[in-house]
Amino acid sequence: MALDNHLLRDLPPAEKKLWDEKVKQIASQHSLRQVFHIEAPIGFLGDPNGFSFFQGSWYLFHQWIPRKTQNKMVYWRGLRSKDLVHWESLPATIDPDTKYDSHGAYSGSAWVNQGQLEIFYTGNVRNQENEREAYQMRATLAGKVIKKAAVPAIMQPPAGYTMNFRDPKVWQQAGKTYAIIGTQTKSGAGRAIIYEASTDLKAWHLKEVLQPFDHDIGYMWECPNFFELDGSQVLIFCPQGADSKDLEYKTLFPNAFVIGPKWSGDGSEWKLKQPKLALVDEGFECYASQIVQAEGRTIIVSWMGPSKTPLPTDKLGWSNCLSLPRELSIKDGELYQKPVRELTSLFGAAHVIDIEHSPSFKATTASHFQVTFKGTGQVQWNVRAQANNPGLVIKVDLRKHALEVDRQAVFPPVEGAKTERDTQRKLQYSSDDKALELEVWLDHTSFEIFVNQGRSVLSGRLFTTETAQSCNFKINGNVTVTGEWHEIVK
Ligand code: FRU
Repeated sequence: MALDNHLLRDLPPAEKKLWDEKVKQIASQHSLRQVFHIEAPIGFLGDPNGFSFFQGSWYLFHQWIPRKTQNKMVYWRGLRSKDLVHWESLPATIDPDTKYDSHGAYSGSAWVNQGQLEIFYTGNVRNQENEREAYQMRATLAGKVIKKAAVPAIMQPPAGYTMNFRDPKVWQQAGKTYAIIGTQTKSGAGRAIIYEASTDLKAWHLKEVLQPFDHDIGYMWECPNFFELDGSQVLIFCPQGADSKDLEYKTLFPNAFVIGPKWSGDGSEWKLKQPKLALVDEGFECYASQIVQAEGRTIIVSWMGPSKTPLPTDKLGWSNCLSLPRELSIKDGELYQKPVRELTSLFGAAHVIDIEHSPSFKATTASHFQVTFKGTGQVQWNVRAQANNPGLVIKVDLRKHALEVDRQAVFPPVEGAKTERDTQRKLQYSSDDKALELEVWLDHTSFEIFVNQGRSVLSGRLFTTETAQSCNFKINGNVTVTGEWHEIVK
């Protein structure tokens, strides 16, 4: 299918001028703009891609549809940072401009090879019959430009798999280079396939099909990551259509993980005896996570994206954001996520939380809270509240080890929404935990709640006014509350 003049760079000069003006206008300050989360200046932001560490900087790309209203051509937009906090936008994008990616430069990853940033992504194509074709494409970042290899590294999925074959995530292990790719069997079951690359990276051979469960989970696996962490192996993936018997989730598609024994690459099957499939994030919007392993750290970023309802910024010209980068670790067989330590550089003035004397106070719109609850009673904690609006409501029952988050009042009903608003989550934290520690990061339109040192995370979007800044604690029964909060300034 030919697409006329669909690339941004092919816009005629007059249109290009208008476009640049529009970008400037949309990217300019608006109360619904995030302060410290990555957003696109304009258009639709999708999955994190190409998360890597190269020549002393972190690189992070994302799926991007600049002209959402005109077509669905996906680009990669890139950012670079020295500290995982302040990001500059890269001039280089991956444009859907060849016959192997004409209908979207879909998700993929990046890694460093012989002093170059190597990129591996999926070229999405719709052929004459409008059928999908999927090519795994190599590219390199050379100076300010991204150069694509002339031919795909993998031309098609292996026999027995459909063209739902995408999102290569590359890693290096024991001197070898592997890629894991999400796919679907012809009988409609999700799988991930591991390929091994030749030393010149030109030929990629099928090594292993990953199906660590004793039955099929979902009809298609998107965005797999497969990596060693603290002596175990983790598979993070998005099993579309997973059954609620295997995994409970309220989002459209789940973003899940399992932990197993180290994968050796020696050909022995990676099977899990008692797989514990769990959600990466227990909250509302989180999908297509991607990790990077560098500098002795494993860091994850997710797409705070797929929403069942249109969001207020869609109409203003941009949608979605990425989660904060979070450092991963495994302790006692459990996966922990902590916001990267560099984020504390955003801290402005610190304030002690003293609920005996001031159970209600005003915080800044973007703020950070570190609060510990002890006792056996209940707490209702409202953040981003204002007159006649309770804001985001966090409820704690210390005896029941239960946490509830309700965003009903800050997730306005949106016109034209086909489905119900998704506004509540409940979480049971471990009864071994003697206290409940919550670390909460609030940005203009999002919250991320880290429970007990990052043992669980619950995050989502919220939409209210910039002046909704009240923070109130209501206690019932025996509870002590200690902690502090920081203003966030950037
Ligand atoms: C996941 C996903 C990927 C695909 C990309 C396209 O959100 O569907 O599987 O590569 O988005 O934008």
